[in-house]
Amino acid sequence: PAAAEAALPPSNPGTPPMSDSPWSLLPAASANAEALDTLYIFFWVLCGIAFVGMIGVQAYFMWKYKKPAHGHAKTSPLTHNGKLEFIWSAIPTFFFVILFAWGEIEYMKQVTPPPDAMDVRVTGQKWSWTIEYPEVKGCSLTNDLYVPVGKPMRLTMTSVDVIHSFYLPAFRLKKDVVPGRYTVLWFEATKPGLYPLMCTEYCGDEHSSMVGRVHVVPQEEYDAVLAKACELKQGDAESAEDFGARVVTRGGCASCHTTDGTVKTGPSFKGLFGKSETLADGSTVTVDENYIRESILEPNAKIVSGFSLQMPSFAGRFDDKQIAALIAYIKAQK
Ligand code: CUA
Repeated sequence: PAAAEAALPPSNPGTPPMSDSPWSLLPAASANAEALDTLYIFFWVLCGIAFVGMIGVQAYFMWKYKKPAHGHAKTSPLTHNGKLEFIWSAIPTFFFVILFAWGEIEYMKQVTPPPDAMDVRVTGQKWSWTIEYPEVKGCSLTNDLYVPVGKPMRLTMTSVDVIHSFYLPAFRLKKDVVPGRYTVLWFEATKPGLYPLMCTEYCGDEHSSMVGRVHVVPQEEYDAVLAKACELKQGDAESAEDFGARVVTRGGCASCHTTDGTVKTGPSFKGLFGKSETLADGSTVTVDENYIRESILEPNAKIVSGFSLQMPSFAGRFDDKQIAALIAYIKAQK
């Protein structure tokens, strides 16, 4: 995983590469992942020995007691051997009970966040992840999870529409994100770097682009890095349109809206401003500042005919200045 923190282009840049080899797992990057990999290897070795043992003995007996080419083999009068049967049942049972107990211990660790864990809220929606940091007031990021090294993190997750699944392969963690309830996931990252995050529950057209990044940063840099990532203000030399492009990135707008005229789940931004749209009830509306603002804050109020409601409300996530910049950005997509 690359540690580079490049400026993001105005669409989801995707995830860092999963692994160098298609046959290997992503290097483990959490305390839990390392423990789980050890268990996983134990499982494979144990099953390998059991498989070779069973199939091997079976093949040996098939060969040894095969029917002779001429005549009949004499059948043994032996019916059973209690001692032998006990031994060949007890040994595998012993090892499989170890496997069960070990798995149970690891599982309980994995589902019990430590009390001093840092809280982050995750919301899944078609088709992006909203990540909120209660530590930084009003900070909500799209598809970018920032965590410090060596600090337990507790993610409280929910969905606003359908079932998604939050998957962190480098941390060996996956949990469904379900509308109407909270699910919890926790981990402690062990190595700084950039790691993939993805949705692994089929959730509609853009399921495959519902991906993000986990930025693991050293403890002492965390506050500054997060504050910088959370800050969303227009720069002194920045035009409203350029600032609007950054707002689009933050909101994850590109998962449903294009700027080249192609229609994804929502109308394309290209040539949208000033257009007259027909609504589902047959009335028409002009796409102006007020309509765009309303669509951001209350997306289901006036749905354009031919589209169904897919968009979550951004009320509370964007302030007036950010919405104004977004409007300037849409206006500029001629
Ligand atoms: Cu969300 Cu697949």
